[in-house]
Amino acid sequence: MTDGPTEPATGGAPPEPAPEPATDGPTEPPTDQTRDFGRILVTGGAGFIGSCYVRDVLGRRDGTQITVLDKLTYAGNEANLAPVRDDAEQAARLRFVKGDIADREVVDDLVRDVDAVLNFAAESHVDRSILDPEEFLVTGVIGVHVLLEACRTAPQRPRYLQVSTDEVYGSVAEGHSREGDLLAPRSPYAAAKASGELLVRSYVVTHGVDAVVTRGSNTYGPYHHPEKLIPLFVTNAIDDKPLPLYGDGLQRRDWLYVSDHAAGIDHVLRHGRSGETYNVAGGVEMANRDTVELLLEHLGKPWSLVRHVEDRPGHDRRYAMDGSKLAALGWRAETTFEEGLARTIDWFVDNEPWWRAARTGDWDAYYERQYGQRLRTTS
Ligand code: NAD
Ligand code: DAU
Repeated sequence: MTDGPTEPATGGAPPEPAPEPATDGPTEPPTDQTRDFGRILVTGGAGFIGSCYVRDVLGRRDGTQITVLDKLTYAGNEANLAPVRDDAEQAARLRFVKGDIADREVVDDLVRDVDAVLNFAAESHVDRSILDPEEFLVTGVIGVHVLLEACRTAPQRPRYLQVSTDEVYGSVAEGHSREGDLLAPRSPYAAAKASGELLVRSYVVTHGVDAVVTRGSNTYGPYHHPEKLIPLFVTNAIDDKPLPLYGDGLQRRDWLYVSDHAAGIDHVLRHGRSGETYNVAGGVEMANRDTVELLLEHLGKPWSLVRHVEDRPGHDRRYAMDGSKLAALGWRAETTFEEGLARTIDWFVDNEPWWRAARTGDWDAYYERQYGQRLRTTS
């Protein structure tokens, strides 16, 4: 398997040579220098990872100004930015715009005012992409295209960072995915994410847009929407409700604490080389059963809450990434799983109003559609 600047291959052929940016692109400083970005557009900044990025960057109090563009879908929540709003100095450096990354007019205006665009916006839940894939494509393909066009045409040529995922590699039976490996997405969510990455690559090569891509591992932490495994099981367990574990529960995920993920993204923004992709690996590989066992132990709840239910169609058995390319750039994850999981569970215990509010709107209908039959037909 190859690493380095050859990525991504999209078929069985050997990896292509590194994308050659068009000559009208910006001159790249060496990656051992830190680039500063005083004005940043964060799309999807009211979601789980995007809001962590906003809180952490504004929390440094270094004068950075952030505009958040977020559509506030069921997963977006302005309350995720409350710690910023409650701090006058930080609040003065945040602007919030409710809007869609696929809306060219809104995007063009905002992109003209910044030095960097970080795109966290996406429909992010694999199960929902199996039920209703269309929005995944609109945001993941058209939305990314609109952002890239805005970067291409903005006179100051901002840097663009696409937040992508280890799911673009598909299920990895053994070893660890490296940046030059085949893209083999297996769910509509992962396919939309892979498509977004390919568009980014095309804008680097054809138009010289200054752009980087990150591929993050399974992320967990405070403010995680309760539809995902860890927060779903923690919040259901608090209420003594059944925990629907798909299939045999032996699927493996590589876990990354949310502030580590945000820090890895920021490191790539400041040090990454244009046209390159960087794995942001957690380095904590766990079988789902073991993760559930740990969280139940921390909560003092019994294993009898767990129900083995019908598996997710096309369920990826294992994700695992090699993080050495980003480590060579000077970054690796710091939070141990035990520490991060304890912090996460304690946050959910202490923030019941937040997650109960997230379980409103379409929650009951979604839950019934996703789990109703599964839970009724389990032993
Ligand atoms: P999330 O679902 O919590 O947040 C997504 C945010 O994007 C929400 O605030 C939503 O309102 C907003 N949004 C959705 N469509 C939009 C649109 N068209 N225009 C503007 N805003 C829109 O997701 P997350 O878990 O925070 O993931 C953030 C990014 O990181 C996504 O791109 C995801 O693919 C990627 N990622 C997530 C993980 C993970 O484990 N959660 C791991 C690797 C990569
Ligand atoms: O790997 C990165 C990806 O991680 C991100 O790109 C996605 O946005 C994010 O949602 C996440 O995808 P997963 O599908 O891995 O996460 P999820 O929390 O949905 O599931 C984690 C594992 O737990 C997976 O093997 C499926 C299983 N699971 C999940 C749910 C919601 C269950 O067994 N039962 C459940 O109810």
